[in-house]
Amino acid sequence: MTVRYDKPIPYGWYAVEYCDQLAVGEVKPLKYFGKDLVLFRTESGEAALLDAFCPHLGAHLGHGGTVKGDSISCPFHAWQFNGQGSCTEIPYANRMPPKLDAANAIRSYPICERNQVIWAWYHPLQAEPKWEVEYVPELDSEDWTAIDKYDWTINTIPQETGENAADIAHFVTVHGALKMPDGKVSLEGHTRLTLMESNTQSMDESGQVDRNDAVGEQARLESWNYGPGFTLQRFSRMFDIVMMGTVTPIDHENLVLRFNFTLPKKQTDTHKLYAHGFRDEVVHQVEQDMPIWNNKQYLDDPILCDGDGPIAKYRKWFQQFYVDDSEPAQKLKIA
Ligand code: FES
Ligand SMILES: [Fe+2]
Repeated sequence: MTVRYDKPIPYGWYAVEYCDQLAVGEVKPLKYFGKDLVLFRTESGEAALLDAFCPHLGAHLGHGGTVKGDSISCPFHAWQFNGQGSCTEIPYANRMPPKLDAANAIRSYPICERNQVIWAWYHPLQAEPKWEVEYVPELDSEDWTAIDKYDWTINTIPQETGENAADIAHFVTVHGALKMPDGKVSLEGHTRLTLMESNTQSMDESGQVDRNDAVGEQARLESWNYGPGFTLQRFSRMFDIVMMGTVTPIDHENLVLRFNFTLPKKQTDTHKLYAHGFRDEVVHQVEQDMPIWNNKQYLDDPILCDGDGPIAKYRKWFQQFYVDDSEPAQKLKIA
């Protein structure tokens, strides 16, 4: 069978849930990073993410586990584990098994709650976070609207969805842009900024894209990438809109893409309408990209032409997020 993707899961911060979708005491089973996971919120309000299977006899903590104080209690024999994955209680043991003292019994993932999202740090070798989740002031402001949320499950890898912004030719062929956007890319560490100033399609009075207008309007788009799991777009034309996109790998060939839009409450009604038209167009564009992503193969050595845009540069930048995950990190085994 054709292998479409042959890449490890890149390391980085990934959105695993919205903050307001995890109440105190709530427990959720998740599948990300090729793993079964359990997400819970302790009684003191901290979100925690652990590998799902209890090291005692393998029950899934996300199916029937309950929060007790700062720990989650296993549904099978009620062993308890805190947010760092340490065993805090065995209700019927006279002595804790010695191996529980040495290290965390279950793998835990560093968590950061920011921009209305719960982020987990994934690194195949469990290295500590190498950067902080970027703060987006608009997502924390009373002056901006509650987010509009969209999500898709796509049969692809984060490198491929991210390559979209660098692939300037497809904007014309897939998305019907009037001409290829002129992007200036700057790269620094885990951050990539693409500045696009382009003529984009104008909108009619109802905020719908006017596909008959051949001239279009000047628009400016700042597109930021902070590692493989977080993209931020600030769009300004005569209106403003901010979109935080998150990409979370489910496994080696599937991911969840989420788009979150917010706009200033103070814009005029017409500009709001335009901003909504823009939002709908961005969402529509994902749906145009999806059949390509769902079926394409990643080519390590593509044949590119001079008009293709900074694809090679993007790939070189993305490379930093891969480490060989074929050897799992040393992990305590509980006998
Ligand atoms: S399997 Fe979890 S306590 Fe026994
Ligand atoms: Fe696209």
